[in-house]
Amino acid sequence: MTLLQQFQTNGYLVLDNFNTAAECDALMQRGEELARNFNFDGHPSVFQTTDQAKTSDDYFINSGDKISFFFEKDAFDDKGKLKGDLFHSLNKIGHGLHDLDPVFNNFSRSPQMKKLASDLQLDDYLIIQSMQIFKHAKIGGVVDTHQDSTFLYTEPDSCIGFWFALEDATKENGCLWAKPGGHLTPLRSWFRKKEGGGTEMAILDNTPYEMEGMIPLEVKKGSCIVLHGLLPHYSLPNTSGKSRQAYSIHTINRNTHYPANNWLQRDMREVKGFF
Ligand code: FE2
Repeated sequence: MTLLQQFQTNGYLVLDNFNTAAECDALMQRGEELARNFNFDGHPSVFQTTDQAKTSDDYFINSGDKISFFFEKDAFDDKGKLKGDLFHSLNKIGHGLHDLDPVFNNFSRSPQMKKLASDLQLDDYLIIQSMQIFKHAKIGGVVDTHQDSTFLYTEPDSCIGFWFALEDATKENGCLWAKPGGHLTPLRSWFRKKEGGGTEMAILDNTPYEMEGMIPLEVKKGSCIVLHGLLPHYSLPNTSGKSRQAYSIHTINRNTHYPANNWLQRDMREVKGFF
């Protein structure tokens, strides 16, 4: 089976040794540098998947073409003060890293990434967003079962995600879980802008997620996991003493319709592909 056939059958691919340890380290170092230079004004944007409405502030909605910082929900005490240092309180950075920062740009459009994109026939694909995900030790929160197409909605569906392990991802520190073939089920929901402001989760299909058969995708530092936009997946909280940093990019086919009420908006003239 070719890579493309494997991807079409299982809804995901696990590619070991995709990036070198040095490439992963350089990206983590750059992410930490960006975070340490972040001038926090005391008004946090918290990222949590359990209640997306809470994150639907302007900072989040306007982060498509910026380098924006999102906190863990447990990072603050009841008086709204950070419990730990700023870097270890962050959940992620997003969503325009791949276009705005040279280090992230090079990682997203590396020679091996171009080769993979060509193996998967992604000539017409655009990198629409990127995220550096920290999943710090002890505080890194749960990501509930979802399909990435919920957040990168196109008509017809086209989203493909690339998830790069910058550190070993294990069951203990919150690796991804997915079920082979899970992408052959309908898109359940669409996260979009609401008329009059804010965001909403529109239900498209009530089919429950099939949790039986979900397997942990434990991978070594340097691995790349390719995720079909319709593949349900999740990750558990990081209760271990080791962080689980990852970088991800999401791509869509430029020949599809990208609705104006998708939560993530970019000036499409500025959005580029791999080549
Ligand atoms: Fe996801």
